[in-house]
This record gives sequence, C-alpha cells and structure tokens, in this order.
Amino acid sequence: MYLTKNQELELLSALDSRGESPLKFAYIPGYKEWINVAQKSREEHSIQFEEDLLKIESFPFIFREITDQIKTVNIIDFGCGDGVPILPVINYLKTVPNIRYIPVDISENMILEAKKTLKNKFPKIEIVSIISDFEKGEILEDIFQLTKSTNTRNYFFLLGNTLGNSNNTEKFLSNLKLSMFSEDSLIIGNQIANLFASSKFIKYYQAKEVYNLVTSTLRNYGMKCAFEEYTVRWNVRQKQIETFLTLREDKKITIASYPVSFEKGEEILLFTSKKFGEENLAEELNNVGFRIDFFATNKKKNTCIASVTPTRYKSE
Ligand SMILES: C[S@@+](CC[C@H](N)C(=O)[O-])C[C@H]1O[C@@H](n2cnc3c(N)ncnc32)[C@H](O)[C@@H]1O
Repeated sequence: MYLTKNQELELLSALDSRGESPLKFAYIPGYKEWINVAQKSREEHSIQFEEDLLKIESFPFIFREITDQIKTVNIIDFGCGDGVPILPVINYLKTVPNIRYIPVDISENMILEAKKTLKNKFPKIEIVSIISDFEKGEILEDIFQLTKSTNTRNYFFLLGNTLGNSNNTEKFLSNLKLSMFSEDSLIIGNQIANLFASSKFIKYYQAKEVYNLVTSTLRNYGMKCAFEEYTVRWNVRQKQIETFLTLREDKKITIASYPVSFEKGEEILLFTSKKFGEENLAEELNNVGFRIDFFATNKKKNTCIASVTPTRYKSE
C-alpha cells in the first residue's frame, strides 16, 4: 500500500469515526490523477491558468527585495504538484547566482514529478526535496539549515488552491507560519469567488478527472466506486464545495487490518473546497498573524495572489 502505518491509522480514524476520506492522501496513490486534473485545467485555460498569468504580473513586486547582494534564493514550494506552476518563478529569477528549489509534498511521487519538470527546464538547478505532511509538522530545521549562509532569502509558495482545500484554514496557515523566519515571504495563489454564483465553480468539480483523483484512496484500498455515486454540493453556510460518494450499495473496506463498513445510502465526504471572497481571505491571513504586503486579483476576479510575511504578536 502507498500510505505509511501512521497515515493508514489516520485514514482509518477519519473513515470510521467521521465518514471522511482526507483529500491529502488521494495525492499519494492518485498523483497521476492530479496531473490529469492540472493538465486539463491548463488546456482549458481555467482556474489554474488564470493564477499563472496573475503570478507572472506580480513578480516585480514580490521579488523587489532581491538585490545584487542576494546570492542564494530558496524557493520552497508547499504542495509542489508536478512542478509546472513554479517554472515561471524560476525563470524570473534566473539571474540570481544560486536558486535552490525545495519541493515539499506529502506525496513522494509528486515530488519526483516536480523534480523531473524542473530538471528538464533548468538542468543546473539545485533541488532539495522534503516529504512532509504540512498539516501536521513544520519543516523549520530543514529550512534553517538551508538559510544559514548569509545573503540568502526564502520565498515560500502555496499555489493551486491548496489553501482552499484544507478544512481548517486558520490551523493550516498557522502551521505553515511555524516554518518561517521574520524576513521570509509566503506567496499564496488561490481561487476567489463570487459566493452568490456557486453554480459556476461546481462544474469544475464535476469532471471525471476530479472524481478519479478524489476516490483514488478508497479505490486503492479495494472499494468499488462508480461515477454515478459522485455528488458535488455547495454548502451555503460554510461557503464551500463538498463532494461525496453517495453509496448505492453496502460497502466494506479494510485498512490497517481493520474492516470499516458503510451502508447503502450513506455518504463518504471526499473533500471540501472553501471559497473566499477577497475580504474573507485577507481576514483569515490577518487572523493568523500575517501582514499582507501584496494582494492582487485578476480582471475576472476569480483568482488572487497574496504575498505575506509573519508579524509579531500584538494584543488588541
Ligand atoms: C491542489 S494541488 C496543487 C499543486 C500545485 N501547487 C499546483 O499549483 O498545481 C495540492 C498539492 O499539495 C499536496 N498536498 C496536499 N495536502 C498536503 C499536505 N497535508 N501535506 C503535504 N502536501 C500536501 C498534494 O500532494 C499536491 O501536490
């Protein structure tokens, strides 16, 4: 099986007690399924593509502090995917003497894909990869080791709506902050949405490619799933997309030698994707103690790039 013993136990607990199959695990057996989703999105010029264009326009501001004195730039790519979204970043920084690419992902195969993509375009680039579940642990020590030489700057990236896909935004962002030092920047690329026009983004999640990704954990553990069981809903109160498997028959799955049973008609939560308006996202960032240095949206107002830095605690 693809998951570690601890991950299996986490999956078992999520399925058994909450009826949830955490999305983060789907990227481990389903890394190829994610690449299919991303490629389709790029071909159709949808959300991911919009983020790419806006990102490129934002570089002069985001990297304004890279002067001739800076000799090394660490690009830490939280949730690297196939590495394609970071290529324009590396290309923009190509005059920096030493660029180090640091892909961080829960999925080893995803990291291998990202490495392949980067080496293909930039054969000389130094790559230091970190396999980590960034919802659970920080990578401060690794980053500290790579920042020791003077004249080094760290830029963390969280692209491709990875923030929206976490089910607790505040906890997620606070955890990322634990890996950062005061001069570091975190650049977030995320979908933003007109929360009254949910039908527009529901369609994106109804694609077969998305179904293949989000059911990959269950299928990998032997559960038979059918596309007809896949349901996408908009939760008005939580302002999030929720996708379920609505079972058409009784099902049983065995994880870490424990059987978990589900009855016909039960729903297994496959993932949630939280949608933010501009102000909600800014508020979330402020709440966890990030100062927003830069915030831009595209003309269509469906995606944003934010560059933030950690601030010290101040009581109100
Ligand atoms: C939505 S994809 C975005 C990929 C890429 N950044 C992009 O823009 O195309 C999310 C990525 O984050 C990784 N990921 C999701 N949850 C994670 C977690 N808890 N810890 C580490 N990586 C995670 C996935 O494996 C995947 O590569």
